[in-house]
Amino acid sequence: MKLGVNIDHIATLRQARKGAEPDPVHAAVLCELAGADGITVHLRADRRHIQGRDVELLKKTVATRLNIEMAATSEMVEIAAGVQPWQVTLVPERPNEVTTEGGLDVILNSAHIAQTVSRLSAHNVRVSLFVDPSMDNIRAAHKVGAQAVEINTNAYATARSEADRVHALRAVDEAAKMAHKLDLGILAGHALNYRNVEPIAGMGLIEELNIGHAIVARAVFVGIERAVAEMKALLK
Ligand code: PXP
Repeated sequence: MKLGVNIDHIATLRQARKGAEPDPVHAAVLCELAGADGITVHLRADRRHIQGRDVELLKKTVATRLNIEMAATSEMVEIAAGVQPWQVTLVPERPNEVTTEGGLDVILNSAHIAQTVSRLSAHNVRVSLFVDPSMDNIRAAHKVGAQAVEINTNAYATARSEADRVHALRAVDEAAKMAHKLDLGILAGHALNYRNVEPIAGMGLIEELNIGHAIVARAVFVGIERAVAEMKALLK
């Protein structure tokens, strides 16, 4: 299974001083050397961590695959059209949220999402939609023309009881099966860490996991190459 490393928090640390260090471009190089299969960044409207300069440089330097998470806005579509990443993942974005709080409601916003997918596709950018593990959302993602879905693993990762955890794991599995049936690319992520990743990594249909916080948090203590290599070993 492939590992996409989300390096937003390298930029969060840099922005704490609004300076130049640590540079997410340097982090991306080290992640790739340690075995990452892709690099993910979230360009937020408020630019709280990743900046325009980062996505431009990452596009030039990432040797694997650059995935940019973004809200479905005209500003972001324009940036994606210019940068031309391997993939854009559309996510819902609320100004004061600490992190992405849930998947897109593809059904409620289907007209707008369909239009955004079609604009990005016209620029040859592959589009993935970050969705909660519901059958209706997966079907809607297919209907609006997305090429892939990233299944939100947050409910699984934050389940407080074993019963809830098993239930949430089954929902991810069923969502992956539905996405496979519809011939969508299948990714998953959010709140995965070194202790909870294995049951998700064992799901055959999921092609790639996007993991950020846990890897960067471990990197503070053991270095980013070791943190990435340890996660990569768990995915195997
Ligand atoms: N996938 C999406 C769509 C996200 O928004 C995030 C967080 O930025 C992640 C994956 C990674 O989540 P985490 O940092 O909890 O590993």
